[in-house]
Amino acid sequence: MNIDVKKILNEKPIYSGKAKSIYKIDEDKVLIEFRDDITAGDGAKKDIKKGKGYLNALISSKLFEVLNKDNIPTHYIEYIDPVYMVAKNVEIVLIEVIVRNIAAGSLCRKYPFKEGQELKRPIVQFDYKSDEYGDPMLNEDIAIALDLATEEELKRLKELALKVNESLKKFFDERGIILVDFKIEFGRTKDGELVVADEISPDTMRLWDKETKDILDKDIFRKDLGDVVGKYEIVAKRIGCI
Ligand code: TMP
Ligand code: ASP
Repeated sequence: MNIDVKKILNEKPIYSGKAKSIYKIDEDKVLIEFRDDITAGDGAKKDIKKGKGYLNALISSKLFEVLNKDNIPTHYIEYIDPVYMVAKNVEIVLIEVIVRNIAAGSLCRKYPFKEGQELKRPIVQFDYKSDEYGDPMLNEDIAIALDLATEEELKRLKELALKVNESLKKFFDERGIILVDFKIEFGRTKDGELVVADEISPDTMRLWDKETKDILDKDIFRKDLGDVVGKYEIVAKRIGCI
């Protein structure tokens, strides 16, 4: 595809989030720019980590390609060197879909799970994507009452999220990495199809080294454990991006 990135970047982004900016290419497509900004705790903690945008663009693109190969619909079209991804222009569903294989993070803060405990079966959790309300957890009735999705769509979101989990868990496992948990977002295409959207990167997943259990994701930044970009680089190398 012939996309004039420079020209597109001359226009204002149609959306700018904490770590990505979205530019319109045309009615059907957007250009996603992965920036070096890193935040935690809803932006309470902020920094810029050189090279993070590049690694997340590469890793996200690779993981969307893995999903597409496994026949899971996504918004992904192509990667553009160094920090860009071309994607379908979709309407983002305001539900953060979290899938957990191993207990960590807020699950252990809110419920009596032990950090590192393997879960009997994956947990799928829906959070309301709203900085204003602090991303509270949803149940089906609240999600429907808020018009975030229909009952059928909620079923489909769960089904697709579990498929994404199976696909990525296997992919990472074969590369010496445990997929502890992750957050994905979905979009509605013009035809009303639900597709995996946004990003899938170490900013939005927990990844542990299978042998050493070393943390290879944004928890390094959240918990001040050292060189976060160095860990993302390990992930990118293991999955064959660099
Ligand atoms: P949690 O344990 O903090 O609820 O996080 C679950 C997963 O979701 C973890 O892989 C990190 C990811 N996540 C995001 O991508 N964005 C967020 O705003 C939060 C809180 C978590
Ligand atoms: N995504 C949130 C933020 O960037 C929280 C987090 O990932 O810890 O502030």
